[in-house]
Amino acid sequence: MKILYILLGILCCVAASSTTDDDQKSTHTNNWAVLVSSSRFWFNYRHMANVLSFYRTVKRLGIPDSQIILMMSDDVACNPRNAFPGSVFNNKDRALDLYGDNIEVDYRGYEVTVENFIRLLTDRWGPDHPRSKRLLTDENSNIFIYLTGHGGEDFLKFQDAEEISSYDIADAFQQMAEKKRYNEIFFMIDTCQANTMYSKFYSPNILAVGSSRLDESSYSHHSDTELGVAVIDRFTYYNLEFLEQIEKDSNKTMADLFETYTFEDIHSHAGIRTDLYNRNLSKVLLTDFFGNIQKVEVGNLEEDLLYLAMTNEDGSPKQLSTQLSQQPQTNISSERKPRLLNKDSSKENYINLESTESSLGRRILIAILLVSTLGFTYTLK
Ligand SMILES: *[C@@H]1O[C@H](CO)[C@@H](O)[C@H](O)[C@H]1NC(C)=O
Ligand SMILES: *[C@@H]1O[C@H](CO)[C@@H](O)[C@H](O)[C@H]1NC(C)=O
Ligand SMILES: *[C@@H]1O[C@H](CO)[C@@H](O)[C@H](O)[C@H]1NC(C)=O
Repeated sequence: MKILYILLGILCCVAASSTTDDDQKSTHTNNWAVLVSSSRFWFNYRHMANVLSFYRTVKRLGIPDSQIILMMSDDVACNPRNAFPGSVFNNKDRALDLYGDNIEVDYRGYEVTVENFIRLLTDRWGPDHPRSKRLLTDENSNIFIYLTGHGGEDFLKFQDAEEISSYDIADAFQQMAEKKRYNEIFFMIDTCQANTMYSKFYSPNILAVGSSRLDESSYSHHSDTELGVAVIDRFTYYNLEFLEQIEKDSNKTMADLFETYTFEDIHSHAGIRTDLYNRNLSKVLLTDFFGNIQKVEVGNLEEDLLYLAMTNEDGSPKQLSTQLSQQPQTNISSERKPRLLNKDSSKENYINLESTESSLGRRILIAILLVSTLGFTYTLK
């Protein structure tokens, strides 16, 4: 019986000590992106290129089209002034046609309105609104929201016809928080005086960046002489340049990205708002927003437990007798913290068994199984 208590004690210690690092891990289980170019007309080519570049990046890093809402006037690729019909480029070398592969535009032309954007965020639609055009997020969703267009102090123009104000977005985010429509939001905006647009936010778990301060313009990066227009904005360009280097399994963090923002590159003061956001940016993976999580559902948990307990790391079957003679618990308190059971895991019904921590997780699972087996044999005696 003593052994049983000791084992249980060890297990409790491990469980307790595992919570600290988990606070820094995102608890989301799905990713969404909302990408908006709010301008129109040929001379705003670069806004379309900005948004299509992000579209390409989030897709490359694993967010499926069904979880990307793309909103743009879409009047550039087929514009009569386009020397390269059907194409949109973000670089004067024209190496990459952003319009080339499957582009699913969810809101185009005159559907790009303030009203539609707010309805999208708050999910207030009539019953006939197609699912594919809805932001079907929940309390486990991390959402990347990117806006580009012409703006000024506390507003962003939509289609030269109307404006959205920083208060409108702040209130929409609050409604989203109340309706449990997100876990975390990463908001990015590239426009003049961009940082004023996130200054009114007041809802929790929002991280925001913008391209320029109050009274500052944002600048385009370079032009294509044949197209005769600027093809990308500076702030967007440097974000993309960094994101180009990361892959789905990247360990790069938000802090790594933000460190690259310099006035020399961007020609304006990029802003970062963190006061609504709890996690340490050195611990926030870019893939928490620019990727899609792999998950194992709790429905399979018992099978997984059994499988893990009955197999070695290489997948070969394990003898139960060797398990009972082992003392795996003594090895559990290594400095690597288990990712097992995030803070809200009971609510989320997910358990994350991926990545390097799985071997530790596996050991704990074995330990739990072992304790129950021991307890069982003890009662038999
Ligand atoms: C990320 O970190 C883990 C553990 O530290 C490491 O095994 C893995 O190779 C890293 N991935 C990349 C792409 O560097
Ligand atoms: C964030 O994490 C880094 C790296 O682990 C650490 O150096 C830094 O002190 C932390 N910052 C805060 C505010 O906890
Ligand atoms: C931990 O496990 C390793 C083998 O994986 C073993 O060599 C070592 O002795 C164990 N440590 C303790 C404290 O049991």
